[in-house]
Amino acid sequence: MSERGPAVVTGGSRGIGRAVAVQLAADGYDIAFCYRLGGDAAVQTEKEIRDLGVECYHAPCDVADLSSVQAFLGTVEEKLGDTAVLVNSAGIVKDNPMVLMPAADWHAVIDTNLSGTYNFCRSAVFGFMKRKSGTIVNISSVAGVFGNPTQTNYSAAKSGIHGMSRALSKEVAKYGIRVNVVAPGFIDTDMTSGLTDKARKAALGMIPMKRIGSPENVSDLVSFLVSERASYITGQVIQVDGGIAF
Ligand SMILES: NC(=O)c1ccc[n+]([C@@H]2O[C@H](COP(=O)([O-])OP(=O)(O)OC[C@H]3O[C@@H](n4cnc5c(N)ncnc54)[C@H](OP(=O)(O)O)[C@@H]3O)[C@@H](O)[C@H]2O)c1
Repeated sequence: MSERGPAVVTGGSRGIGRAVAVQLAADGYDIAFCYRLGGDAAVQTEKEIRDLGVECYHAPCDVADLSSVQAFLGTVEEKLGDTAVLVNSAGIVKDNPMVLMPAADWHAVIDTNLSGTYNFCRSAVFGFMKRKSGTIVNISSVAGVFGNPTQTNYSAAKSGIHGMSRALSKEVAKYGIRVNVVAPGFIDTDMTSGLTDKARKAALGMIPMKRIGSPENVSDLVSFLVSERASYITGQVIQVDGGIAF
């Protein structure tokens, strides 16, 4: 167990969360990550993390379920010590125009993306306040900045993360705790692999840099934001999007 507490990453088995977990391991943090199903992806991510010489704990934990989140963080504390860094990356999409959107899809996306982020922040922040240290990065989306058609649920959840994080940053700044948001544009993960050629072309048309981003483009910023180099940055929403304009 390292002297410095672990970094906890939700949705760390795949995609952006996985890149964040591996980068923070390279930065020297022990890593705890959770997922819904996990499977081979979680095992592979654990191997990459351990190969970097740090400890790793991972388990299924539905971020939408507060009691599961509390139990997960309790086990992390037993195994790796007090959480030093929290990165909320777990997320899902269920796209449809509002006129066709089933209520269940509205609630599922809000519950996972927004309430899941609340559940982890709420469960970690009291410990951060007691220790007068800790930093949080919540992953949102440019959909929460601009609003994206067919994603009213997702855009609402991600905008909600912006408001929640800005408000929380003001509540806890006096305890030395920083809270920031990273809002990615189109990033090459399983979440975007299902885009049709037409949708991919339309996305590229909105991106001045004319390419889809990599998960590492996002994890590089997270690594900076949790570090001492970002010690005067809090309450910010920072886009990683190749300059996208909707
Ligand atoms: N990819 C993009 O273009 C993009 C753009 C902007 C923002 N984002 C945001 O970035 C974050 C990561 O996206 P991604 O592209 O990396 O997605 P991804 O490749 O689909 O991975 C999603 C991760 O979240 C986990 N997860 C989903 N629901 C969960 C739940 N209820 N409880 C716990 N874990 C859960 C998944 O676990 P399992 O594998 O076990 O299901 C997986 O580890 C999300 O918040 C997403 O909204 C992505």
